[in-house]
Amino acid sequence: MVRHFLTLDDFSSEEILKMVSIAEKVKSGSEKSRVLKDKNIAAIFEKPSTRTRVSFEVAVNQLGGNFVFLRSDELQLSRGEPVKDTARVLGRYVDGIVARVFEHNDLVELAKYSGTPVINALSNLYHPCQILADFLTIKEKKKKLKGLKLAYVGDGNNVCNSLLVGCTKIGLNISIGSPKRYEPNSEIVEEAKNNAKKSGSELKIVNSAKEAVQNADIVYTDVFVSMGDEKEMAERLKTFLPNFQVNTRLLENASPDAIVMHCLPAHRGQEITEDVLEGKQSVVWDQAENRLHAQKAIFIHLFYKSI
Ligand code: CP
Ligand code: NVA
Repeated sequence: MVRHFLTLDDFSSEEILKMVSIAEKVKSGSEKSRVLKDKNIAAIFEKPSTRTRVSFEVAVNQLGGNFVFLRSDELQLSRGEPVKDTARVLGRYVDGIVARVFEHNDLVELAKYSGTPVINALSNLYHPCQILADFLTIKEKKKKLKGLKLAYVGDGNNVCNSLLVGCTKIGLNISIGSPKRYEPNSEIVEEAKNNAKKSGSELKIVNSAKEAVQNADIVYTDVFVSMGDEKEMAERLKTFLPNFQVNTRLLENASPDAIVMHCLPAHRGQEITEDVLEGKQSVVWDQAENRLHAQKAIFIHLFYKSI
Protein backbone atom coordinates (compact mmCIF):
# COMPACT_ATOMS: atom_id res chain seq x y z
CA MET A 1 0.00 0.00 0.00
CA VAL A 2 1.31 3.46 -0.88
CA ARG A 3 1.87 5.46 2.30
CA HIS A 4 1.45 9.25 2.23
CA PHE A 5 2.49 11.91 4.76
CA LEU A 6 -0.40 14.38 4.70
CA THR A 7 -1.16 14.74 8.40
CA LEU A 8 0.27 13.23 11.59
CA ASP A 9 -3.16 11.78 12.28
CA ASP A 10 -2.39 9.11 9.67
CA PHE A 11 0.43 7.81 11.87
CA SER A 12 0.37 6.04 15.21
CA SER A 13 2.14 7.46 18.21
CA GLU A 14 4.73 4.66 17.87
CA GLU A 15 5.41 5.61 14.25
CA ILE A 16 5.79 9.30 15.06
CA LEU A 17 8.24 8.51 17.87
CA LYS A 18 10.06 6.10 15.58
CA MET A 19 10.51 8.85 12.98
CA VAL A 20 11.87 11.15 15.70
CA SER A 21 14.31 8.43 16.69
CA ILE A 22 15.38 7.89 13.05
CA ALA A 23 15.94 11.65 12.78
CA GLU A 24 18.17 11.51 15.88
CA LYS A 25 20.22 8.73 14.31
CA VAL A 26 20.47 10.59 11.01
CA LYS A 27 21.62 13.71 12.85
CA SER A 28 24.22 11.85 14.91
CA GLY A 29 25.56 10.18 11.77
CA SER A 30 24.82 6.65 12.98
CA GLU A 31 22.19 6.24 10.22
CA LYS A 32 23.53 6.86 6.72
CA SER A 33 20.61 5.63 4.66
CA ARG A 34 20.65 5.82 0.84
CA VAL A 35 16.97 4.91 0.74
CA LEU A 36 16.32 7.15 -2.28
CA LYS A 37 19.17 5.77 -4.42
CA ASP A 38 18.13 5.97 -8.09
CA LYS A 39 14.78 7.50 -7.10
CA ASN A 40 13.32 10.79 -8.33
CA ILE A 41 11.23 13.01 -6.06
CA ALA A 42 9.14 15.79 -7.59
CA ALA A 43 8.39 18.91 -5.57
CA ILE A 44 5.47 21.22 -6.39
CA PHE A 45 5.53 24.54 -4.53
CA GLU A 46 2.54 26.88 -4.87
CA LYS A 47 3.91 29.20 -2.15
CA PRO A 48 7.35 30.55 -1.23
CA SER A 49 9.64 28.50 1.00
CA THR A 50 13.20 28.64 2.32
CA ARG A 51 13.53 25.92 4.95
CA THR A 52 11.15 23.31 3.57
CA ARG A 53 12.30 23.52 -0.01
CA VAL A 54 16.03 23.52 0.70
CA SER A 55 15.91 20.90 3.46
CA PHE A 56 13.89 18.59 1.21
CA GLU A 57 16.23 19.08 -1.75
CA VAL A 58 19.34 18.46 0.37
CA ALA A 59 17.69 15.50 2.12
CA VAL A 60 16.76 13.85 -1.18
CA ASN A 61 20.29 14.35 -2.54
CA GLN A 62 21.94 13.04 0.62
CA LEU A 63 19.66 9.99 0.59
CA GLY A 64 20.89 9.22 -2.93
CA GLY A 65 17.93 10.56 -4.90
CA ASN A 66 17.26 13.28 -7.44
CA PHE A 67 15.01 16.26 -6.67
CA VAL A 68 12.84 17.66 -9.47
CA PHE A 69 11.70 21.09 -8.35
CA LEU A 70 8.51 22.32 -10.04
CA ARG A 71 7.24 25.86 -9.65
CA SER A 72 3.49 25.56 -9.86
CA ASP A 73 3.25 28.63 -12.13
CA GLU A 74 5.41 26.80 -14.70
CA LEU A 75 3.23 23.70 -14.70
CA GLN A 76 0.11 23.23 -16.80
CA LEU A 77 -1.69 23.27 -13.43
CA SER A 78 -1.44 27.05 -13.67
CA ARG A 79 -3.38 26.90 -16.96
CA GLY A 80 -6.16 24.80 -15.51
CA GLU A 81 -4.96 21.21 -15.92
CA PRO A 82 -6.75 19.30 -13.15
CA VAL A 83 -4.75 18.12 -10.13
CA LYS A 84 -5.86 14.54 -10.77
CA ASP A 85 -4.43 14.60 -14.32
CA THR A 86 -1.15 16.13 -13.10
CA ALA A 87 -1.02 13.49 -10.37
CA ARG A 88 -1.47 10.57 -12.76
CA VAL A 89 1.22 11.86 -15.11
CA LEU A 90 3.79 12.72 -12.42
CA GLY A 91 3.16 9.36 -10.75
CA ARG A 92 4.41 7.65 -13.92
CA TYR A 93 7.71 9.54 -13.86
CA VAL A 94 8.70 9.88 -10.24
CA ASP A 95 8.88 7.85 -7.02
CA GLY A 96 7.39 10.44 -4.69
CA ILE A 97 5.88 13.93 -4.62
CA VAL A 98 6.47 16.71 -2.09
CA ALA A 99 3.87 19.49 -2.35
CA ARG A 100 3.16 22.86 -0.72
CA VAL A 101 -0.36 23.93 -1.62
CA PHE A 102 -3.06 26.45 -0.80
CA GLU A 103 -5.86 23.87 -0.59
CA HIS A 104 -5.29 20.77 1.50
CA ASN A 105 -7.78 18.92 -0.73
CA ASP A 106 -5.33 19.24 -3.61
CA LEU A 107 -2.90 17.09 -1.62
CA VAL A 108 -5.62 14.55 -1.00
CA GLU A 109 -6.31 14.51 -4.74
CA LEU A 110 -2.59 14.15 -5.56
CA ALA A 111 -2.37 11.27 -3.13
CA LYS A 112 -5.47 9.62 -4.53
CA TYR A 113 -4.37 9.69 -8.16
CA SER A 114 -0.57 9.65 -8.27
CA GLY A 115 0.03 6.10 -7.01
CA THR A 116 3.21 7.32 -5.34
CA PRO A 117 3.90 8.68 -1.82
CA VAL A 118 2.82 12.32 -1.38
CA ILE A 119 4.37 14.44 1.38
CA ASN A 120 2.66 17.57 2.71
CA ALA A 121 5.19 20.41 2.63
CA LEU A 122 2.50 22.74 4.10
CA SER A 123 -1.15 23.28 3.26
CA ASN A 124 -3.76 25.69 4.57
CA LEU A 125 -4.65 23.05 7.18
CA TYR A 126 -1.45 21.30 8.25
CA HIS A 127 2.34 21.46 8.38
CA PRO A 128 3.26 17.97 9.65
CA CYS A 129 6.94 17.91 8.54
CA GLN A 130 7.54 20.98 10.69
CA ILE A 131 6.16 19.28 13.77
CA LEU A 132 8.36 16.22 13.36
CA ALA A 133 11.42 18.51 13.38
CA ASP A 134 9.93 20.30 16.40
CA PHE A 135 9.62 17.04 18.32
CA LEU A 136 13.25 16.25 17.53
CA THR A 137 14.21 19.69 18.86
CA ILE A 138 12.15 19.36 22.04
CA LYS A 139 13.60 15.91 22.72
CA GLU A 140 17.15 17.25 22.30
CA LYS A 141 16.56 20.16 24.63
CA LYS A 142 14.29 18.57 27.25
CA LYS A 143 15.42 14.91 26.97
CA LYS A 144 11.81 13.72 26.72
CA LEU A 145 8.49 14.49 25.04
CA LYS A 146 5.65 12.87 26.99
CA GLY A 147 4.34 14.87 29.93
CA LEU A 148 5.86 18.22 28.96
CA LYS A 149 3.62 21.24 28.43
CA LEU A 150 3.75 23.07 25.11
CA ALA A 151 1.96 26.42 24.90
CA TYR A 152 1.14 27.70 21.43
CA VAL A 153 0.35 31.40 21.31
CA GLY A 154 -1.26 33.18 18.37
CA ASP A 155 -3.11 32.19 15.22
CA GLY A 156 -4.82 28.78 15.17
CA ASN A 157 -3.24 28.07 11.79
CA ASN A 158 -1.70 25.11 9.94
CA VAL A 159 1.27 24.88 12.34
CA CYS A 160 -1.05 25.07 15.34
CA ASN A 161 -3.34 22.38 13.87
CA SER A 162 -0.43 20.01 13.30
CA LEU A 163 0.97 20.68 16.78
CA LEU A 164 -2.46 19.85 18.18
CA VAL A 165 -2.61 16.55 16.34
CA GLY A 166 1.02 15.62 16.97
CA CYS A 167 1.16 16.55 20.66
CA THR A 168 -2.08 14.77 21.51
CA LYS A 169 -0.89 11.67 19.63
CA ILE A 170 2.32 11.32 21.61
CA GLY A 171 1.18 12.48 25.06
CA LEU A 172 2.65 15.98 25.09
CA ASN A 173 0.32 18.38 26.90
CA ILE A 174 -0.75 21.30 24.73
CA SER A 175 -2.34 24.57 25.63
CA ILE A 176 -3.37 27.03 22.94
CA GLY A 177 -3.92 30.74 23.49
CA SER A 178 -5.62 32.36 20.49
CA PRO A 179 -8.02 35.28 20.14
CA LYS A 180 -11.71 34.54 19.53
CA ARG A 181 -12.36 33.64 15.85
CA TYR A 182 -8.70 32.58 15.43
CA GLU A 183 -8.86 29.32 17.37
CA PRO A 184 -7.71 26.14 15.58
CA ASN A 185 -9.98 24.30 13.16
CA SER A 186 -12.88 22.76 15.11
CA GLU A 187 -12.79 19.37 13.35
CA ILE A 188 -9.09 19.08 14.07
CA VAL A 189 -9.75 19.99 17.71
CA GLU A 190 -12.20 17.07 17.85
CA GLU A 191 -9.58 14.72 16.36
CA ALA A 192 -7.10 16.00 18.92
CA LYS A 193 -9.55 15.38 21.78
CA ASN A 194 -9.90 11.77 20.65
CA ASN A 195 -6.13 11.40 20.46
CA ALA A 196 -5.77 12.93 23.91
CA LYS A 197 -8.18 10.40 25.40
CA LYS A 198 -5.91 7.61 24.20
CA SER A 199 -2.54 9.20 25.01
CA GLY A 200 -3.49 10.92 28.26
CA SER A 201 -2.36 14.25 26.86
CA GLU A 202 -3.95 17.37 28.41
CA LEU A 203 -5.46 19.73 25.86
CA LYS A 204 -6.61 23.25 26.61
CA ILE A 205 -7.77 26.00 24.26
CA VAL A 206 -8.19 29.47 25.76
CA ASN A 207 -8.49 33.04 24.54
CA SER A 208 -5.65 34.29 26.72
CA ALA A 209 -1.95 34.01 25.92
CA LYS A 210 -1.05 34.52 29.58
CA GLU A 211 -3.27 31.68 30.71
CA ALA A 212 -1.97 29.38 27.95
CA VAL A 213 1.70 29.80 28.85
CA GLN A 214 1.35 29.21 32.64
CA ASN A 215 4.23 26.90 33.64
CA ALA A 216 4.85 25.86 30.05
CA ASP A 217 8.05 24.00 29.17
CA ILE A 218 7.84 25.15 25.57
CA VAL A 219 6.42 28.43 24.27
CA TYR A 220 5.73 28.26 20.55
CA THR A 221 4.47 30.89 18.15
CA ASP A 222 4.02 31.44 14.43
CA VAL A 223 3.07 34.35 12.20
CA PHE A 224 -0.23 36.17 12.64
CA VAL A 225 -0.65 36.39 8.86
CA SER A 226 -0.01 33.13 7.04
CA MET A 227 0.62 32.79 3.33
CA GLY A 228 -2.75 33.24 1.68
CA ASP A 229 -4.15 35.44 4.51
CA GLU A 230 -2.42 38.66 3.41
CA LYS A 231 -5.70 40.43 2.65
CA GLU A 232 -6.60 40.19 6.36
CA MET A 233 -3.30 41.70 7.54
CA ALA A 234 -4.64 44.93 9.10
CA GLU A 235 -7.51 43.27 10.93
CA ARG A 236 -5.32 40.44 12.18
CA LEU A 237 -2.60 42.72 13.54
CA LYS A 238 -5.25 44.76 15.34
CA THR A 239 -6.68 41.61 16.92
CA PHE A 240 -3.44 39.88 17.90
CA LEU A 241 -1.41 42.84 19.13
CA PRO A 242 -0.40 43.46 21.83
CA ASN A 243 -1.90 40.58 23.83
CA PHE A 244 -0.74 37.60 21.77
CA GLN A 245 2.88 38.63 21.28
CA VAL A 246 5.60 36.41 22.75
CA ASN A 247 7.74 38.88 24.71
CA THR A 248 9.69 38.84 27.98
CA ARG A 249 6.62 39.78 30.01
CA LEU A 250 4.60 36.89 28.65
CA LEU A 251 7.53 34.50 29.14
CA GLU A 252 7.59 35.30 32.86
CA ASN A 253 4.47 33.14 33.16
CA ALA A 254 6.17 30.08 31.66
CA SER A 255 8.58 27.75 33.44
CA PRO A 256 11.91 29.58 34.05
CA ASP A 257 13.71 27.06 31.84
CA ALA A 258 11.11 27.15 29.07
CA ILE A 259 12.40 27.05 25.50
CA VAL A 260 10.99 29.33 22.82
CA MET A 261 10.15 27.92 19.41
CA HIS A 262 9.07 29.42 16.10
CA CYS A 263 8.82 27.58 12.80
CA LEU A 264 10.13 30.70 10.97
CA PRO A 265 10.02 32.97 9.05
CA ALA A 266 9.51 35.30 12.04
CA HIS A 267 8.07 38.80 12.05
CA ARG A 268 9.97 40.61 14.78
CA GLY A 269 7.73 43.04 16.64
CA GLN A 270 4.60 41.13 15.66
CA GLU A 271 4.21 37.57 17.03
CA ILE A 272 7.60 37.68 18.77
CA THR A 273 10.01 40.37 19.92
CA GLU A 274 13.59 40.64 18.69
CA ASP A 275 15.04 40.08 22.19
CA VAL A 276 13.09 36.87 22.73
CA LEU A 277 13.81 35.48 19.26
CA GLU A 278 17.52 36.20 19.68
CA GLY A 279 17.55 35.47 23.42
CA LYS A 280 18.91 32.60 25.53
CA GLN A 281 15.64 30.67 25.64
CA SER A 282 15.20 30.63 21.86
CA VAL A 283 16.01 27.37 20.06
CA VAL A 284 14.81 28.47 16.63
CA TRP A 285 18.07 27.88 14.73
CA ASP A 286 18.42 24.30 15.95
CA GLN A 287 14.73 23.90 15.19
CA ALA A 288 15.32 25.07 11.61
CA GLU A 289 18.35 22.78 11.22
CA ASN A 290 16.29 19.84 12.39
CA ARG A 291 14.00 20.19 9.39
CA LEU A 292 16.76 18.51 7.34
CA HIS A 293 17.14 15.53 9.67
CA ALA A 294 13.37 15.15 10.03
CA GLN A 295 12.78 15.19 6.26
CA LYS A 296 15.22 12.30 5.92
CA ALA A 297 13.42 10.37 8.65
CA ILE A 298 10.13 10.81 6.78
CA PHE A 299 11.59 9.36 3.58
CA ILE A 300 13.27 6.51 5.42
CA HIS A 301 9.99 5.63 7.15
CA LEU A 302 7.79 6.00 4.06
CA PHE A 303 10.04 4.05 1.78
CA TYR A 304 10.05 1.09 4.18
CA LYS A 305 13.76 0.80 4.55
CA SER A 306 13.72 2.09 8.08
CA ILE A 307 16.24 1.10 10.72
N1 CP B 1 9.00 26.72 8.54
C1 CP B 1 8.88 26.66 7.21
O1 CP B 1 8.16 25.83 6.67
O2 CP B 1 9.62 27.57 6.53
P1 CP B 1 9.60 27.84 4.96
O3 CP B 1 8.30 28.51 4.63
O4 CP B 1 10.78 28.71 4.71
O5 CP B 1 9.71 26.52 4.24
N1 NVA C 1 1.62 29.52 9.14
C1 NVA C 1 2.66 29.89 8.21
C2 NVA C 1 3.77 28.91 8.28
C3 NVA C 1 4.95 29.22 7.41
C4 NVA C 1 6.02 28.19 7.49
C5 NVA C 1 2.09 29.99 6.82
O1 NVA C 1 1.29 29.12 6.43
O2 NVA C 1 2.42 30.93 6.11
